[in-house]
Amino acid sequence: MSAIKMDGKALSAKVRSKILEETQSLKAQGIVPGLAVILVGDDPASEIYVRNKEKACTECGFYSEKHVLPASATEQELIALIHTLNESPKINGILCQLPLPAQISEDAVIAAIDPHKDVDAFHPANVGRIMIGDFDFLPCTPAGVMELLDEYQIDPKGKKCVVIGRSNIVGKPMAMLLLHRHGTVTICHSRTIDLPKVCAEADILVAAVGKAGFVTPDMVKEGAVVIDVGINRNAEGKVCGDVAPEVMEKASYMTPVPGGAGPMTITMLMKNTLKAARLQH
Ligand code: GUN
Repeated sequence: MSAIKMDGKALSAKVRSKILEETQSLKAQGIVPGLAVILVGDDPASEIYVRNKEKACTECGFYSEKHVLPASATEQELIALIHTLNESPKINGILCQLPLPAQISEDAVIAAIDPHKDVDAFHPANVGRIMIGDFDFLPCTPAGVMELLDEYQIDPKGKKCVVIGRSNIVGKPMAMLLLHRHGTVTICHSRTIDLPKVCAEADILVAAVGKAGFVTPDMVKEGAVVIDVGINRNAEGKVCGDVAPEVMEKASYMTPVPGGAGPMTITMLMKNTLKAARLQH
């Protein structure tokens, strides 16, 4: 058996064209959704992500601003920029690309963003709202995974869902969204005892580790749904996920890298920005 590939590129195109339609109807009312993207330093991966986010804004008919600060920027400079954007009527969403240089506290920067413009859903106020299930914005990567599951009619209800990785931006919120949909959720991490065995019990396995080929076939139950959130580069410099390609032979559904969860993440950012524009008017 070879898994059905969950096509995030195709679903993204579908969702983006729906967003464009909605943007056009907002524009008829004089409202143009606006996103500000901040990049600090010159990390090549971050530069690619930011470029893709700008491209997505154009595709969805949004206004966008890119702000680039040098790697030597101070926390005060970055927070001052965020305060300006918080007050800007043209801007509905603010995204500060992570990671940030070591001299800047990510927590302080996230806390400085107006929660109403926090389209990443990283602000503690929004994280708390997700926890209790009363939210405006969902974090982009987990939200994109949920849309992919829905598109392929995979219902987490009652199923054993295992998330590998406990980051604030992917692992923890991913677990929460699966729980909202009545999954039986386990979060695994670097200290988990016998991690392969825990993973091998999963009906739905989400890998958010950041290590190329981390998930091997022995860690996957026959017929499991495998979601690969990793974006890594292998020894040849090729983009690859956290899941070894051989897992395709064991899974029933699997997201490819690239072209699976990645495009959906940016599309969910667009969805949040559109929602932010609506809520602010
Ligand atoms: N760096 C990697 N993923 C993300 C994301 O979803 N949002 C932001 N702001 N930075 C990131």
